[in-house]
Parts: sequence; C-alpha cells; structure tokens
Amino acid sequence: MHMDGETPPLQETMPPTRIILDTDPGADDALAILLVLASPEIKLEAITTVHGNVGTDKTTRNALALLEFLNADIPVAKGCSLPLNKTPHSWGGHVHGASGLGQAKLPEPKTKPVDPHAIDYLIQRFLAKPKELTLFAVGPLTNLALAIRKEPKFAEAVRELVIMGGAIRSGGNVSPLAEFNIHEDPHAAHIVFNSGIPITLIPLDVTYKCLLTPEDIERLLKIDSPIPRFVRDVMADYMAFYSKYEGFAGCALHDPLTVAALIAPELLHLEEHYVDVDISGGVSNGKTYADFMKVLKKPANMRVALDVRGREFVELFVERMERLCNLAQGSVASTRHSARPAAEDGGGSIG
Ligand code: BDR
Ligand code: CA
Repeated sequence: MHMDGETPPLQETMPPTRIILDTDPGADDALAILLVLASPEIKLEAITTVHGNVGTDKTTRNALALLEFLNADIPVAKGCSLPLNKTPHSWGGHVHGASGLGQAKLPEPKTKPVDPHAIDYLIQRFLAKPKELTLFAVGPLTNLALAIRKEPKFAEAVRELVIMGGAIRSGGNVSPLAEFNIHEDPHAAHIVFNSGIPITLIPLDVTYKCLLTPEDIERLLKIDSPIPRFVRDVMADYMAFYSKYEGFAGCALHDPLTVAALIAPELLHLEEHYVDVDISGGVSNGKTYADFMKVLKKPANMRVALDVRGREFVELFVERMERLCNLAQGSVASTRHSARPAAEDGGGSIG
C-alpha cells in the first residue's frame, strides 16, 4: 500500500512506450485504460473504439466518459460497428451491463470523437511516424484488419501489436473452443495474424490465471477516492456473471493483462509459434491454434503467452490502482491531463 501520499518509485528513467489502444469498453477494457494511465512506462496517445462487448456508439461514449472522469485529454476515434463477415452477438449486456460499464454511472461526456474514422486515424498516426508507436488491441480486430487492407504500408509501420484474444490450449469463453474477441471477428483476426506485424498474444490460457477478487476491491475501497468506487461499480455485473456462470467470486483481468507485456514482461511465459484462427464456419469457428509441432512448416508469426505468475500480476494491478488514486490526490476532477510529449509530463499518467 502507498497511502502516505508518496508515489511509489517506478522505472521512470526509460522514456515511456507510446501506444494507441483499440478497445470496446467494456468493464475489463475500462480497467485496462486505468492501468495504462497508472503506468509511467506507457504514454497513451489515443484510443480507437470498436464493436464488441456493446455496440460502437456505447463503446465510444464509454471511452470518452472514462477519459473525462480521469481528466485525461486523449483523442478518441470511433471505429467499426460490424464484424467483417458475421452477425454481431447481441448479449454483451449480460456480461458487461447494458451500458457496457456495469453499474458505473459516469456523466455523459462533453467531448466528441475526433473526425477521422478509426481506420483512417490509425493509418494517419502510424504512417506519420513508422515503427514508433505500439498498438494494443483488446476488442475484436475489425479496425486493424481494415487498416491493413486499406493501406498496404500500415502493417510495417506498427512497431509492435499486443492483442488480448484467443484460447490456445484453453477452452473458449464464448463457444466451447473460441475466445470472444477472436470469435467476434475471426476473419479480421486471420488478416491481422498473417499481416507481418510483430505480435504478442495474450490468450485466455493466461488471463484466467489473473483473478481479481472481492478482497482486492475491498483493499482498494479503503482509499477515499472515486477511482476504487468506479472499479467496484464497473466490475459489479462482470463479477456477478463470473459467479453465476463460472462458479467463482471474482473475475479474470483479461484486457489489463496485455499491459503486463510492457510493464512486467517477466511475469509472462512467452513462446514463438505460428498461430492462426479457424474461419471454416463449423463448431471450431474462431478457434485460435498454435502449430506447436511445426507441421505447417510456417515461420512463427507471434509470441504467445502460455503461462503467467497470475497473483503477482493482480497484486501489481492493485498497486497501480493505488498509485492512480495518489496521482489523482483523491479528486479526479482537480486537474486535466493533456497528452503532452513524454519529456514534459512523464507519460500517460493523470494529475
Ligand atoms: C475479452 O472479451 C471481452 O468480453 C473482454 O473485454 C475481453 O476483451 C475476453 O474474452
Ligand atoms: Ca475488451
């Protein structure tokens, strides 16, 4: 705990990694955004939104509202509303609440998305400074696939791509075999996986080892700040879903775990493999598979996380939330963060 008002020492000597986050907030997406903003190793430069947990109108509204809540002045570009070649699911509200943010009640945002569509925004940002920006994707991969198809130079301009998605040795969470983000747009995932972008994949195999518990939330609630109360409320429906359907109190930190690839890679066991997704339309549609035995004779196309020191990651997550509260000094309405260059403000942290 760091309740004394002092910000814990962190690796602030390295310049932060500049990222753009493609997301469908979404309860655990919201926690990923909090974790990014709490982490001085990262500077969040923009958010692009996509369909997924709820529709794109809602995911965009949620991203804007959350950034306003955190006084984080970061551009948001609205992206695709539909998968490339499937009907979108219609039951995300069961998992993430009707709004997508559980029981959290954030005011309607005053800010608007930037003008370009997320596909064009991604192309503009990455081609302006090739190989400088890292991309995080924690929703269906539709925006990324269409950026790759629209601009042939896009893939080579991405420094690195970290994806939450897939189930390699694990079973699925939306079908017996498939994970939600990949299942929701398997054709997009196929395009992205085979694009040549250097990819790190964070599948269910590891995210289900990172379980946020009610005790973790109680620990955070000891801090008098709107942030822990937001965490409690945004996860309320999500935790109820886990309790009802998965039989445990708590929930997996799927999207936040992508951030470990930058802030705590030592917690992840990563292996290089050729990974692809089944798009044949049968029972395994949307299933990700790794060619462990190299029978396809294809070079590895990504690093895939197959194990994690899960409890250590959850502890790190809770510590970073405590740090975020300290940065905000108990009042998230006091200052407004601007996405200034890292040299000026030390990265994407608020306050
Ligand atoms: C993924 O699906 C979504 O519901 C979560 O936000 C996460 O990105 C986990 O399968
Ligand atoms: Ca998500």
